Amino acid sequence: MKSKIIASYLPEIVALRFFRSKPGKVTVNITDRCNQHCIYCEIGVGIPTLKTDRLSSDDLIWIIDQMAENDIRNLSICGGEPFLFEGIIGIVAYAAKKNIRSSITTNGMTAWMLSEKELDSLKESNALINISIDSFRDDIQAGIRGNPQALTSAVKSMEWLIVKKIPVNVLTVISKYNYTDLFAIVTNAYKKGAKEVLFQPVISASNYPDRPVLDQKARLNVSPDHVEILVGELKRILKFERKHQIKTNVYRILPWIGYYLETAQKAEGRRFFDPVLKSFFCREIDAIIDITYDGGIQPCGLEPAMVSIRDNREDGLLALWSEATVKIRNDLLNGRYYEVCNACCHHFSRNMLASVIKYPFRNRSALIRIMPRLFLRILSQTIKHCYFYIVPASIST
Ligand SMILES: C[S@@+](CC[C@H](N)C(=O)[O-])C[C@H]1O[C@@H](n2cnc3c(N)ncnc32)[C@H](O)[C@@H]1O
Ligand code: SF4
Ligand code: SF4
Repeated sequence: MKSKIIASYLPEIVALRFFRSKPGKVTVNITDRCNQHCIYCEIGVGIPTLKTDRLSSDDLIWIIDQMAENDIRNLSICGGEPFLFEGIIGIVAYAAKKNIRSSITTNGMTAWMLSEKELDSLKESNALINISIDSFRDDIQAGIRGNPQALTSAVKSMEWLIVKKIPVNVLTVISKYNYTDLFAIVTNAYKKGAKEVLFQPVISASNYPDRPVLDQKARLNVSPDHVEILVGELKRILKFERKHQIKTNVYRILPWIGYYLETAQKAEGRRFFDPVLKSFFCREIDAIIDITYDGGIQPCGLEPAMVSIRDNREDGLLALWSEATVKIRNDLLNGRYYEVCNACCHHFSRNMLASVIKYPFRNRSALIRIMPRLFLRILSQTIKHCYFYIVPASIST
């Protein structure tokens, strides 16, 4: 916990209050191929794109070289399904040699088929694997993710990676199909040895801005009439988390999820974060470089790319990224938010904290609500850490 405060919280506070010299992470959608058909995903439901270029291994090597040159140490690999990109293990190993840590977000369909050698390489590269599981019930997982093997494969992958001592997190999209099943996700993930379970509601904008948003996407969210049931489920998780060696992001989403779900169904000109924050600040446009499967550099993850790593490559990644983000930076600075900001729930917990740190006076009511929660969280994590240090998990369960 102490090292997390020093390595992560303090630099973030300094960056927000004073100056962020460079982004801390690059996110790359390395492919748009996939082997699932998730109901909330434009790729999953087969909405086509007009883009014809695709990233190659050479492009990825260039991105990693640029990251190393600019001291950017985190690479988040997404997709499509990243394990369908041939050579992904070599890419992660190449990044590790340059002192860059990779995380891979996968549906787990094929990771269980990795060879011993490939797993050893992932382990040596200190990779983190996020596996997307929306339920540990076969029928729910198959229904949401459009593949009858979705749960069996994801669980096999998870078990296999954990046996090999590769850290695994679970990612869960909260929808109207699984909101009463979330506690069971945490207990199952805990039993299998996952480190964290991270929840987010359905993002109602297109995941891939080069494809039109899928019809009625917001309606996949939990209905506002059922928010109380959802909040009850989340509170049960918080209690479980206090006594078990697993983390979740529930404490971060509780202050805003009800507002998000209400606005997702009926925005009526409102932004979901207005009741939470007087002044909103988006840290993500400064902190992350988002690269699409065709090499586009996005202004942010939900806005279409107008600049490509293939144009003027000699300028370098940071210069291209500055060019790609100049307009959004200026618009946000002048209070001109985009329609997609109202769908940006996956970044909101961090943006909420960032807004409070950036504008503590204007956001004083949020500060009063959020800071005690954060303080209690740090305290309870420290106590939990000390407890499990003295009493190993195997004895305490
Ligand atoms: C787009 S996927 C790509 C990686 C991989 N194919 C997977 O599913 O894990 C990355 C994450 O976004 C989640 N996701 C996809 N569509 C979403 C949506 N509309 N709202 C919220 N999360 C979504 C997925 O469940 C997954 O956890
Ligand atoms: S969410 Fe991931 S697994 Fe599901 S369809 Fe989209 S890219 Fe594929
Ligand atoms: S959609 Fe808006 S809030 Fe989200 S990352 Fe982009 S600019 Fe920031």
